[in-house]
Amino acid sequence: MTLQSFGVIGLAVMGENIALNVERNGFPIAVYNRSRDKTDKFMAERAVGRNVKAAFDLKDFVAALERPRRILVMVQAGKPVDAVIDQLKPMLEPGDIIIDGGNSWFEDTDRRTKELEPAGFRYIGMGVSGGEEGALNGPSLMPGGTDTSYEYLSPIFTKIAAQVDDGACVTYVGPGGAGHYVKMVHNGIEYGDMQLIAEAYDLLKNAAGLTAQQLHEVFSEWNTTDELNSFLIEITANIFPYTDPGTGIPLVDLIVDAAGQKGTGRWTIQTALELGVAIPTITAAVNSRIMSSIRQERIAASKQLTGPSGKWGGDTKEFINKVRDALYCSKICSYAQGMALLNTASSTYTWNLNLSEMARIWKGGCIIRAGFLNKIKNAFNENPTLPNLLLAPEFKQTILDRQAAWRDVIMTAAALGIPVPAFSASLDYFDSYRRERLPQNLTQAQRDYFGAHTYERVDKEGKFHTEWVPITEAKH
Ligand code: 6PG
Repeated sequence: MTLQSFGVIGLAVMGENIALNVERNGFPIAVYNRSRDKTDKFMAERAVGRNVKAAFDLKDFVAALERPRRILVMVQAGKPVDAVIDQLKPMLEPGDIIIDGGNSWFEDTDRRTKELEPAGFRYIGMGVSGGEEGALNGPSLMPGGTDTSYEYLSPIFTKIAAQVDDGACVTYVGPGGAGHYVKMVHNGIEYGDMQLIAEAYDLLKNAAGLTAQQLHEVFSEWNTTDELNSFLIEITANIFPYTDPGTGIPLVDLIVDAAGQKGTGRWTIQTALELGVAIPTITAAVNSRIMSSIRQERIAASKQLTGPSGKWGGDTKEFINKVRDALYCSKICSYAQGMALLNTASSTYTWNLNLSEMARIWKGGCIIRAGFLNKIKNAFNENPTLPNLLLAPEFKQTILDRQAAWRDVIMTAAALGIPVPAFSASLDYFDSYRRERLPQNLTQAQRDYFGAHTYERVDKEGKFHTEWVPITEAKH
């Protein structure tokens, strides 16, 4: 029996497409899915004429693979991954490689690596980005685990990944859960990008009164610019002209304004808080989805809580350009936060992440793919120890040149009562980061006052405590 080069467990959308991608690139595959129907359908339709062996139990699946076996698990993150591993383990032999391609929590990946590798197996936790189309035609892949295990996978992954001007969108990310961590931060940045675009849309539609057709034109134009050219801007431009066949209304206007989330944005914030890295733009993006989801409560509140309304009174073209600048400056801040988080995670967990390479593998295939990532790649290439992207010469100058427009847009939004939480959080990040002296001297004085927490002084070394004016009896 000829053996297959690569196995895929789980034939949901991502598994099915990535399996076909691997096969198309010259590697015969074996597939297995827990429920037989999906496998039957796959074999009867998309796998016809392809070098695919279907297995209907795990033993046959494992037996169909050449050694060391390379098995990609594409099942729901969490318990299902552990369940598949538990079933597989007794059937595998030392040296075989399990790859988890889902959006797993990085600490789960660390734990699984620690359980499997001492038993002689190899384990790779790999972020996969790009949705259905990316999985089929070239995703961005973020594999983490033991580097020697990755060597067995690199010939396949280098072929199936998206290809950009400077190589395949895959690289060995780092040990343990590093790959899944980088994918999680990718998703946090994805949330930030999506929220910033939503705020630009809100301003253009509700402050400047642009129609769906005009919105299409503006976003299409932005997509041709060096700064904003990206997958998310492109799909945004494509959304506006789509009219609902039943009503003739732009479909986007008929979609309920309550965004879902599966958790990777929230995880990004949770780990940032634990590592002490401020990521306010990404946090604002997650909060905005939460606010959007309490729709009935908002509808009721809208009847009682009044505020300003109205439109931008000036030149529309000028406003559009200001919003573009605000979007770009905010986007730089959002990526600065994401990269700072990766930097701290890398040193905390001794992952030795190459930030330039992380930006490079996001240039193609993934949801945040954008021309802009080349600038980030270059910035970290030129200075691998860059403390913050805002200090890279190119980004620094861009923000300095555009900050007046950015501030104007946020002031206009506030005056018109249009919430721009991610634009504002980005500007606050910039203003806090560039500020020599912040007001937390007062915070320290208060902490010392009520809790004797002590403080440091700007003019001499040491820790100090003051006996402040005694706290009087509360009279309220
Ligand atoms: C990708 C996406 C993908 C998915 C996320 C976010 O990189 O291909 O990030 O992983 O879109 O799960 O989804 P939510 O918006 O539902 O959290």
